[in-house]
Formats: sequence, C-alpha cells, structure tokens
Amino acid sequence: YAVVFSGIQPTGTPHLGNYLGAMRQWRRLQDMAGDEDKLLFSIVDLHAITMPQDAEALRSRRREMLAALLAIGLDPKRSTLFYQSSVMQHTELMWILSCTASMGYLGRMTQYKSKLLAGNKAGDLDEAVSSRLKLGLFSYPVLQAADILVHRATHVPVGDDQKQHLEFARECVTNFNHTYDQELLVSPQTITAPSSRVMSLRDPSQKMSKSSPNVRSRILITSTPNEIRQRIMSAVTDNTNAVTYEPNDRPGVANLLELTAQCSPNPTTPADVADLLMGGTLGDLKNACAEAVTAELRGIRDRYTELLERQGGKYLVDIEAAGAEVARRNAEETMRLVRDVVGLASLR
Ligand code: TYM
Repeated sequence: YAVVFSGIQPTGTPHLGNYLGAMRQWRRLQDMAGDEDKLLFSIVDLHAITMPQDAEALRSRRREMLAALLAIGLDPKRSTLFYQSSVMQHTELMWILSCTASMGYLGRMTQYKSKLLAGNKAGDLDEAVSSRLKLGLFSYPVLQAADILVHRATHVPVGDDQKQHLEFARECVTNFNHTYDQELLVSPQTITAPSSRVMSLRDPSQKMSKSSPNVRSRILITSTPNEIRQRIMSAVTDNTNAVTYEPNDRPGVANLLELTAQCSPNPTTPADVADLLMGGTLGDLKNACAEAVTAELRGIRDRYTELLERQGGKYLVDIEAAGAEVARRNAEETMRLVRDVVGLASLR
C-alpha cells in the first residue's frame, strides 16, 4: 500500500502553480486512494521561518492554508492535515539525519543559493554572502527529508522545483540505512503532475511564485473571475498574433496553452489546444484560458471564506488537532525504531 506525503509553506495564498503542480494532485490521489493507503499533507511552518516571518502573520497564514487545502477538496476524513510544528518528531529526525548527511551535497543544492542570491547573478558564495546565509536555510532540505522519512512515505507529489530536494531525501535514506546497517527508512518516489512548472504571467522565464513582488504575475486559487480575466488578458506573450505551441520560442503563449489544457474539463494537451485555436488570435487564446481557469477554480473562493469563519474558527482548530494526533502517532512509530537503532534514549 502507499503512504503519500507532501507539504506546502504557509507563506501566502496558494496560486495556480501550487494548485496545478501539487494540490490538485493531492486531491486526485486522495480520491483514488484505497482504504489501506495513507495520505498526509503538512503545512510546513518550520520551513517558512527560514525567511523572516511576523509571528501573528504566520499564525493566520497557517490557518488560511488549512482552509485553502480543505476548500480545494481535501477531506480530513481521508487525508491527515496538520501543522509541521505540531509534530516534533519531524525536527527530532532532522537532527539525526543531519548527522549522516553530507555538507558537500547540501552545498551543491540550488534553492538556498537562489534565495540568497536573488537579484544578483547566480555565482559563488563569497564571504559576505555566506555570512548572511542562515544555517536553517542551508539545512532546509534535511528538514524536508525528515518530513517525508518520518512518515515512511512511499510517494511524494510535488512540482518540478522540488525534485532536487526529493533526490536529497533519497540520499538521506541511503546514508542512514548504510550507517546503521538497517533497511529502516523507506526511499520515497517523486510524483509530478503534467503541469509541474507553471510560469509567471509577467515573465514566462520565471516560475509563478508566492514571493514575487508583482501580484499581477500570479493567479490565486481565491481570485475572483474578474481578477482571473484581468491577469490573463494582461499576461506577457510576444509580438506574433497567432496561436502556436512552441515552448522554447514562445514560452508566454505556451504557458497560456498549458493552463488552458490543464484546466479544460476533458484531458487534453497544449498542442491540441493550439490546434483547436488554429487561425485565431492571442486574444482568442486569452479568452479561452480565462474561461477554463475560472471554471476550474469555481467554488474554491466561497468555500475558503466560509471555512475560515465556520464555528468562529473552531472548525479549523479541531481539524488540525485531530490531524496532528494522527501524524504524531504515525511519526512516533518510525522514531521508536530510529532511536533504538541509533542507541538513543526511548521516550517513556
Ligand atoms: P512550496 O510551499 O514552495 O510549494 C508547494 C508545492 O507547490 C509546487 N509549486 C509549483 N508547481 C508548479 N508550478 C509552480 N510555479 C509552482 N510553485 C510551487 C511546489 O513544487 C510544491 O510541491 N519545500 C517545499 C515544502 C515541503 C515539502 C516537504 C514538500 C516541505 N517539506 C516534504 C514535499 C515533501 C516548498 O517550499 O513548497
């Protein structure tokens, strides 16, 4: 049977990239899962604090993320939803993994570099840059590996940008199991959606991201039909007013074709959408895209708003408390074995 695990940072309302690249997959896996399968989705607040966060804002963003996960159709009866900081076994395993993880491997990873060097041209970590680098940002992938391994997940559905982190998680399994000469930790498989890399609507060479200062670069899962239309109508494309699918030469157009294909009610491909619109203008494509995205996101905004208010907030608190309880039990099963093979004290 399968154990599905994934995580999302509570750093703002999820956008279409998070939704198509990850969250919609989570819902699909949930809807396909059998009684034997386990699904766990964590709101990873400990990862969020690798960048400065205001405490009050972090608390509300965590709640908002939980409401968003429920609003897209995750069902707490089938999926365990919890805050990472509610389950201390994640950080406990992180420390143990970091004692067999290689600094060299971590140093070659790109995500912390791109955060650190944002704005500069990607280059070497000189003295000045590394003194601004916080240990937590550097060891971020070790915590992510612990998230996955502590639940002995077999499948991890993520967007393209997380593939490197998943490879590192498998490396942690090898290192740990080899060091302690046990097949204790389980190597997880990466699952990616067909649309694993949604691009910015302002700059199709960048991925759509929560942290971009330009709000017009993204569509939120809670955007109104009007906002969706505006964002897509003003999306950056190119000067050829015809619809063709050429991902390398026309990335902006390809992104809109991809969004239209992914949001169309019947499975289709960007190339098929381009064929359908052959002879049409970019305006026609944008209209079709806005319509498809609006239909795909319909209802999420209302459910989200209602969930945040339900029982004066108590509903969300109760869902998370129940999820944390299940996740703690699941993680503790692994940790008992881990503490034992490492020779650490067992919890009484
Ligand atoms: P985060 O919070 O940045 O993103 C959550 C999920 O959304 C995907 N995603 C995208 N997919 C397609 N196109 C995009 N433009 C796009 N932007 C984001 C991400 O790939 C991700 O799947 N490190 C993780 C959180 C994490 C995690 C884990 C994930 C912590 N522990 C354990 C899996 C397993 C992150 O920052 O995701």
